[in-house]
Amino acid sequence: MAHMQKTMSREESDAFAARIEKEFDDCGFGLWAVEVPNHSPFIGFVGLHRVPFDAPFTPAVEVGWRIAREHWGYGYVTEAARCAVRYGLEVVGLDEIVSFTNPANVRSWKVMERLGMIRDPASDFEHPNVPTGHWLRPHIFYRFPPAAPSP
Ligand SMILES: CC(C)(COP(=O)(O)OP(=O)(O)OC[C@H]1O[C@@H](n2cnc3c(N)ncnc32)[C@H](O)[C@@H]1OP(=O)(O)O)[C@@H](O)C(=O)NCCC(=O)NCCS
Repeated sequence: MAHMQKTMSREESDAFAARIEKEFDDCGFGLWAVEVPNHSPFIGFVGLHRVPFDAPFTPAVEVGWRIAREHWGYGYVTEAARCAVRYGLEVVGLDEIVSFTNPANVRSWKVMERLGMIRDPASDFEHPNVPTGHWLRPHIFYRFPPAAPSP
């Protein structure tokens, strides 16, 4: 949670899980629980999420991830995110999937690059839910597939 503004209480975490369930009910996709078969039944989440704030690139669906620290460095997130992006494009029928993070969250934007997402500096933005001046407010932006050139 080093790149979030704060950790969650048990109640906040449960409410977050309920919102994830609701997104599956509402639109058939969401943040999937990630299991490492025969090893760990639940290491975190990877999946698709409707961007919950207004920005020049919204409405949009993002691919996102959060995995317990001891499971970093094994490629699980890239593997799971590749499936999530494919599901979004081929099954849900989305035209585009976006992702964004604070530039200091190197592990996160490295996943975006491994996925083949394209960095779009023109769409970098200040996160509206982070206070002005906070170091976590600037966000770099990636999209998949690349934006079509304007006519
Ligand atoms: C961001 C986050 C999900 C990335 O996790 P990660 O483990 O680095 O990502 P991956 O699962 O794709 O693993 C990639 C690493 O596994 C290594 N790896 C090992 N075996 C691999 C394999 N078979 N295939 C691919 N990569 C493999 C890669 O070399 C890479 O290591 P490196 O970063 O040292 O080069 C994780 O750091 C996290 O949960 N952070 C906290 C939550 C967060 O910040 N979320 C994002 C908010 S925007």
